[in-house]
Amino acid sequence: MTSKINFFKEAVKNLKIVGTVVPSSRFLANRMLKEIDFSKVNVLVELGPGNGAITKHILNRLPPNAILICFEINNCFYKQLLELKHPQLVVVKSSAEKIKEELSLLGFDKTNHIVSSLPLTIIPDKISKEILNSSFDVLENGGTYIQFQYSLSYFKKLKKVFNTFITLDFEPLNIPPAFVYRCKKVD
Ligand SMILES: C[S@@+](CC[C@H](N)C(=O)[O-])C[C@H]1O[C@@H](n2cnc3c(N)ncnc32)[C@H](O)[C@@H]1O
Repeated sequence: MTSKINFFKEAVKNLKIVGTVVPSSRFLANRMLKEIDFSKVNVLVELGPGNGAITKHILNRLPPNAILICFEINNCFYKQLLELKHPQLVVVKSSAEKIKEELSLLGFDKTNHIVSSLPLTIIPDKISKEILNSSFDVLENGGTYIQFQYSLSYFKKLKKVFNTFITLDFEPLNIPPAFVYRCKKVD
């Protein structure tokens, strides 16, 4: 409950960046992750982890030699994620459109999957386009970009990048209920 209250306080102060005042439910986290074959994951990226509502579920499923790289721009959430002190978690305080450069600095050029809770609709168009294009570039072939949204407003933009390889799912047990896009990279 404390983490929900902390999230609420920080989100209210930064609504234009956070995009919601309630962290995702475990039901939404499970729906986001359910089609990832974690036994084959080496590097997984999370964009917009907040205070870790989905991050915790990723870490619980990660095989021992794999790592999770999180991109978070909010200083308070960044510090909270560092406090998790998880040996397989790397937290980068950088905006998601820098994904390529930051992965390269860490010695990686590809990721198996990207899990995103970024509030795409309130991120300026130029930046959100950069985020989607760079995400596509760093995904390995066959990897997925998984994004939740509270509306269907981004479907067309995701289609421009991922073509027709997108499936749509829905999680009613979240506040508010959310759509989940799974976008597969097919070169
Ligand atoms: C809707 S919240 C999701 C938080 C958490 N993942 C959850 O599901 O409860 C969106 C998060 O994205 C972060 N964020 C917004 N724009 C970002 C960007 N350009 N790069 C990285 N993180 C960003 C916000 O600070 C916030 O923590």
